[in-house]
Amino acid sequence: MNPHGVSRRKLLSLVTAGAASAAGLLIVDRRNASGPRLPGISPVNAGGPPRKRGSKTLVVYFSKTGRNYPDLNLTVGNTAQVAGFIHDRVGGDIFEIHPAEPYPADYDQTVDMAQREERERIYRDIKPGAPDTDQYGTVFLGYPIWWGEQPMAVQTFMRRHDLNGSKIVPFATHEGSGFGNSLTVIKQYYPNADVLDGYTRQGQDVYRDPDGTRTEVGSWLRRLGF
Ligand SMILES: Cc1cc2nc3c(=O)[nH]c(=O)nc-3n(C[C@H](O)[C@H](O)[C@H](O)COP(=O)(O)O)c2cc1C
Repeated sequence: MNPHGVSRRKLLSLVTAGAASAAGLLIVDRRNASGPRLPGISPVNAGGPPRKRGSKTLVVYFSKTGRNYPDLNLTVGNTAQVAGFIHDRVGGDIFEIHPAEPYPADYDQTVDMAQREERERIYRDIKPGAPDTDQYGTVFLGYPIWWGEQPMAVQTFMRRHDLNGSKIVPFATHEGSGFGNSLTVIKQYYPNADVLDGYTRQGQDVYRDPDGTRTEVGSWLRRLGF
């Protein structure tokens, strides 16, 4: 344990637990013969009329400042860094999701709270101010991986905004899970979105190597044609 309370053991246990519970959920779902599904996530606007979409580009993300693994005190979150690099290159609009009640500054408290929220599917309220997402044909959606998926504040945003019919470009930072289950989460909320190949990087590498991250982001975007 380092002096600021972010233990390697705790992080590893949560990465492993996220993976294990993901595996368990996928096995359960295979029995339903409807492909792997995560419980408690319903499609947004299921059966509603398809939305008319504009052609603008939006970068929307959530990121947490404060104590983070390993012994970091972030003034700019890891995902926020990546969001900035994407926006610098693709332009358009950028919007940060803020929970109405911030998560605790303390890392371990956040880990415990996030686990409870995801287990019980508590949709954490978020501050208003998001743009009308119907204007956008392309939405870059960024988040840290928490317990193997998007933090519930991000899922509140997803539930409130119908992104079916748009191109969704996911990006995430993590400490070992990669995208975890988060791509399945996106497809379950938005079965009619076109989900492009996303970008992930370990959060501590984003922190230690911002220039390398910017370069990687640039190559990824070029590959996708942005
Ligand atoms: C509540 C919480 C849960 C986390 N769960 C995972 C996880 O399941 N898998 C993983 O690889 N990393 C996990 N992490 C590490 C974060 O994904 C990683 O530190 C990320 O870069 C944080 O991004 P941010 O600075 O944008 O908030 C977790 C971190 C927190 C605070």
